[in-house]
Amino acid sequence: MNSTVLVTGSAGFIGYHLCKRLLDSGNNVIGIDNVNDYYDVNLKEKRLEILNKVPLKNNKWEFFRTDLTNKDSLLKIFENNSPKIVVNLAAQAGVRYSLENPDAYINSNIVGFSNILDLCRETEVENLLYASSSSVYGGNTKVPFSEIDPVNHPVSLYAATKRSNELMAHAYSHLYGLSCTGLRFFTVYGPWGRPDMAPMIFANAIINKKPLKIFNHGDMSRSFTFIDDVTEILMKFLDKPAVVDKSFNPTDPNSSTSWSPHRIFNIGSNKSIEITKFINYIEKELGLKAIKEFKNMQKGDVVNTSSDNRILERWIGTYPKTPLEIGIKKFINWYLDYYE
Ligand SMILES: NC(=O)c1ccc[n+]([C@@H]2O[C@H](COP(=O)([O-])OP(=O)(O)OC[C@H]3O[C@@H](n4cnc5c(N)ncnc54)[C@H](O)[C@@H]3O)[C@@H](O)[C@H]2O)c1
Repeated sequence: MNSTVLVTGSAGFIGYHLCKRLLDSGNNVIGIDNVNDYYDVNLKEKRLEILNKVPLKNNKWEFFRTDLTNKDSLLKIFENNSPKIVVNLAAQAGVRYSLENPDAYINSNIVGFSNILDLCRETEVENLLYASSSSVYGGNTKVPFSEIDPVNHPVSLYAATKRSNELMAHAYSHLYGLSCTGLRFFTVYGPWGRPDMAPMIFANAIINKKPLKIFNHGDMSRSFTFIDDVTEILMKFLDKPAVVDKSFNPTDPNSSTSWSPHRIFNIGSNKSIEITKFINYIEKELGLKAIKEFKNMQKGDVVNTSSDNRILERWIGTYPKTPLEIGIKKFINWYLDYYE
């Protein structure tokens, strides 16, 4: 692949890794981010510094500090750069913060995503990938979660915005033939990760000998997914836009395809692990013990997430596989290097 890829959320955790990988492999990359202060801005600036220093060959890297809600500014960027591939990772992330600041979710995830969809239509983008989330499975109790399961019970506004994105993308793909692929990420962790997410919160508390809050009294599990697996899979999707499946049968409840060029995939480790075991891995890697404080379940959270990867494997031939021991080692090495 050697065309221009536009990545929104490029100062963010997943966006940074994808841009780095794209630049390292000689692609033209346009990055967009408003670099907001939802979490430590220095971390975002540091990621951008690294991207600015990637040695370029014949490729280019251009970064625009702008907001997805500013459609005029986005239009100029789309018109001036004519990207054929767009990866929308910018969003207001986080389940718990959606109880505090719902407006941020409506602005970035609904208005912002609507602008992206509309500009992709207008400028004839050939392949739109967009971040959804495992949180769309909400209160579902059947595990592992499959893309063909009903997802009608979001338990946070964040999840509701991500499910809305899937429905909006479906409508655009149906109406205008815009090829859209929705990626339901499951708890992504690794170097340059997000300070608001459990792996960073855990590492931070253990190193600083602070009490570590464990919700639902530890009765929770997650498909922790290593960032390099996510980047690897995103690279494969860049070359594989969603296509119309003519054999689609809407009465077949097992069909994950549709008449429109729109597909949705889980991007999650196939091993769901208890939170307490995940903490044990971090303790082992740091050679330190956590001070555990068991708490009740938090509003908006889900008890378990577990990813069924069969549809993903059929489509691109792989799924996230990095063992936790290896992923955590890389994550902790980075953490110690960055923060100490
Ligand atoms: N990391 C995970 O485990 C995970 C899990 C499920 C879904 N997701 C989704 O994947 C995507 C990337 O996640 P991440 O972990 O890299 O998050 P992140 O917060 O690190 O990155 C998102 C970036 O988008 C930017 N942004 C937010 N609103 C914006 C706006 N209105 N205009 C321009 N930029 C804006 C932020 O400044 C940030 O740098 C998000 O859509 C997130 O909801 C992530």
